[in-house]
Amino acid sequence: MEINNVAEVVDDCIQKNGNSLIPVLQDIQSHYNYLPEEIFDEVSQKMNIPLIDVYGVATFYKSFSLTPKGKHIITVCVGTACHVRGGQRIVDKISRELGIEPGETTPDMNFTLETVNCLGCCAIGPIIMVDGEYHGQMTIQKAISLLNEFRTKLKKEEENDTSKS
Ligand code: FES
Repeated sequence: MEINNVAEVVDDCIQKNGNSLIPVLQDIQSHYNYLPEEIFDEVSQKMNIPLIDVYGVATFYKSFSLTPKGKHIITVCVGTACHVRGGQRIVDKISRELGIEPGETTPDMNFTLETVNCLGCCAIGPIIMVDGEYHGQMTIQKAISLLNEFRTKLKKEEENDTSKS
């Protein structure tokens, strides 16, 4: 993946978030979908924060990723409450469908599969979160239809892109 306009993106995120490192990094991550290596020097210099501290924050918080993620991030809860209601079977099914293990991204960069230990709403488990949106009382069938909805959406986007070029 090509990383463009690093200086402009970093400037823009600093302008929007002032001198607060975490919001700046969050904003950069939402632009690129992860924190590319190229941004670290730029952030360090422009915010006048030692490079080691910028890396320290980026690697400390689990919400930051230093590796590229897919367009859609599927997070399946495998905490106890969700696990006893079939959370692990849902992960296994999605994993087989996408051909990747949790923590991996599909080669076409469309999906990243992740697991977590609790999403904070155990009562409606098993839960999966897609791009930050919660889907409760999940079943294998519901998970597959959700996945297919995203696949259809991606296909349409691809077709639109092709017809524009
Ligand atoms: S264990 Fe899944 S939301 Fe708490």
